[in-house]
Amino acid sequence: MNPLSSTLGKATGILTLVVVVIAAVLNYFDDPDPIRYSSMTEDLKTLGENFRQQNKSCFILGASGETGKVLLQELLERNIFSKITLIGRRQLTFEGKAYENVAQQVVDFEKLDDYAASFQGHDVGYCCLGTTRAKAGAEGFIRVDHDYVLKSAELAKAGGCKQFHLESSRGADKNSSFLYLKVKGQVEAEIEALAFDRFAIYRPGVLLVDRQESRPGEWLIRKFFSAVSAVSSSMSIQIQLVAKAMVANTLLQPEQKTEILENKDIASLGKNSGK
Ligand SMILES: NC(=O)c1ccc[n+]([C@@H]2O[C@H](COP(=O)([O-])OP(=O)(O)OC[C@H]3O[C@@H](n4cnc5c(N)ncnc54)[C@H](OP(=O)(O)O)[C@@H]3O)[C@@H](O)[C@H]2O)c1
Repeated sequence: MNPLSSTLGKATGILTLVVVVIAAVLNYFDDPDPIRYSSMTEDLKTLGENFRQQNKSCFILGASGETGKVLLQELLERNIFSKITLIGRRQLTFEGKAYENVAQQVVDFEKLDDYAASFQGHDVGYCCLGTTRAKAGAEGFIRVDHDYVLKSAELAKAGGCKQFHLESSRGADKNSSFLYLKVKGQVEAEIEALAFDRFAIYRPGVLLVDRQESRPGEWLIRKFFSAVSAVSSSMSIQIQLVAKAMVANTLLQPEQKTEILENKDIASLGKNSGK
């Protein structure tokens, strides 16, 4: 063996070892056992058919984002709503018959009260809105991830929305000293206080997706968690599983008005949701 391939072999071995050790440490701080969603493909099919017959409508906040895009496709494929309204700051372009029941409302998030009508008459709301501190600064992040999200939920509730599904984050905690986790936890708690008939909180770990927007720091984190995901399932998740879980969960009847799905629960539900 030449010296170069020997060095490369050693480096790969060390890297694999590092990933395994880190995964073991992460597993130590793991989520509790996930809620068990055994294969429920048939149940969901029936539930989906019953749900469809009720002619319900929904809205999506953040449909231009990575999760929102996949969520929209998932909703269209499942075909459980008679109308889907995308509420966002810009008009999106769609072509084809698949989108005939998709409406759009362009709003100014700084003046949401002026757009109360856009939030009226939806049965279910999905929120995948969010920005980052790196992109918007601390104030901008709070504005979007807290103020816009909470105000939208308030207007939706006032407009008759029964179910609200919020994409939050792993580790969300209103008492956290980390701004990101604190804001996510605060908005969860404040929306819970609005008392929707159903409030589902999804707390995914790092979203595994080939992001269109360039975020170099996140790219590195994603690559790392992609490697770790082979040995630890609680820190990251494929974005398709988040969307699948949000849609499947809409059809289920939880025992509690407010439910929290941690990363493993989302993965478990997403994987068992079939189609
Ligand atoms: N990235 C992760 O690894 C990760 C992990 C856990 C949880 N989360 C959370 O999951 C949620 C969705 O994440 P994602 O990565 O799918 O989102 P994303 O791709 O960054 O998309 C964000 C969405 O929010 C909208 N938005 C951002 N800033 C806005 C502003 N100032 N005014 C109005 N709309 C604005 C975007 O609209 P435009 O297209 O018009 O910009 C887009 O529709 C976020 O709450 C995020 O914090 C993310």
